[in-house]
Amino acid sequence: MRKLLCLLLCVATSAFAQKWEGLALTPPMGWNSWNTFASNINEKVVRETADAMVANGMRDAGYVYLVIDDTWSKKERDQAGNLVADPEKFPSGMKALADYLHSKGFKLGIYSDAGMKTCGGYPGSWGHEFQDALTFASWNIDYLKYDWCDHGTADARDAYKRMSEALRAAGRPVVFSLCEWGQNRPWEWAEPIGHLWRTTGDIYDSYDGRKGWESGWKLLLNQQYDLVPANGPEGLAKYAGPGHWNDPDMLEVGREGLSLAESRAHFSFWCMLAAPLMAGNDVRHMQPEIRDILTDKEVLAIDQDVAGKQGYRALAEPATQTEIWVKELSNNEWAVCMLNTGTAAADLTVDWNRLWTIHGHYDLRDVWAKKAVGDNSKPYTARVASHDVVLFRLTPAK
Ligand code: GLA
Repeated sequence: MRKLLCLLLCVATSAFAQKWEGLALTPPMGWNSWNTFASNINEKVVRETADAMVANGMRDAGYVYLVIDDTWSKKERDQAGNLVADPEKFPSGMKALADYLHSKGFKLGIYSDAGMKTCGGYPGSWGHEFQDALTFASWNIDYLKYDWCDHGTADARDAYKRMSEALRAAGRPVVFSLCEWGQNRPWEWAEPIGHLWRTTGDIYDSYDGRKGWESGWKLLLNQQYDLVPANGPEGLAKYAGPGHWNDPDMLEVGREGLSLAESRAHFSFWCMLAAPLMAGNDVRHMQPEIRDILTDKEVLAIDQDVAGKQGYRALAEPATQTEIWVKELSNNEWAVCMLNTGTAAADLTVDWNRLWTIHGHYDLRDVWAKKAVGDNSKPYTARVASHDVVLFRLTPAK
């Protein structure tokens, strides 16, 4: 009898030893240090970033997770095997930083790695998962990005599950962000383990360039369907939903390799994808036009729609340099995004009859231009600059 009870308990515990539920019901929003600061991150930058995000409206627009990426720790653990924050970069310590951010209405995220070393060569959590999760809980950390460098022969599913269990065991709710680059198809197994998973290699501030491991945002966008050709144009979309998101990597909006149009288009598409929105620019010093993109309430509402449906490509026509993506919203509304893929401005047309998933009569709103632009009874044509978009919201016609 006791054996049976134990067996039942064990089965029950492992069935429930999953991620923290009820978090990231819409795609998480915040800022991450990596794209701009890389190893130059420190507590002064994080505090100034928080202060800037209060002043520029980003916090109130929903960007609340401030995530410190790689290189925050000392190169060695202490004698008890604990991770230690680099005292030169974080002299007040992580707990004090978390307290400061919490007092301003933010949450603190940190970074570790499932292998022996992080991608930057700092200690990884392999063999220390439960210890590190307790350390993070003692610092009041709210979000963990967990990378995949130096993993040796480890099994990804096993390694990420162990850290997920460690975070549960540590007792503090944490959003768990898997950063395994899509190598082991995390969309097929990570939903019970984490809240978001990277689907690709790293982004950099380019439209469609490639630099070794890094790609421009348009190439990452293409991978949302290229990675799973069997799913047709819907690609990865079917794997996303409230509490579990495909992550095509952080935002490059406002960074120097992108034109304003390319920043606007990049942001529009990440919202069409219901992607996590982690700003990667230096938000302490950004142009008003970039702030306006990042904090546009109507565009953010497309990303944050409670139905949590990821958009997908409905049409790609190189001859007319047009791509059109659609995203189903709640209440029978839709978002439609039309991109000029060419290098020169062009007249692009949406022929609503060709968007086969959208049936019925809708009023159209040009979301960036903030104006009503008729209805879907006839094709819509607009002059669109190179790599720029027209983003529509469709509401059922009265
Ligand atoms: C990997 C990740 C990046 C970043 C760096 C840090 O490349 O994919 O997002 O975290 O490591 O070293």
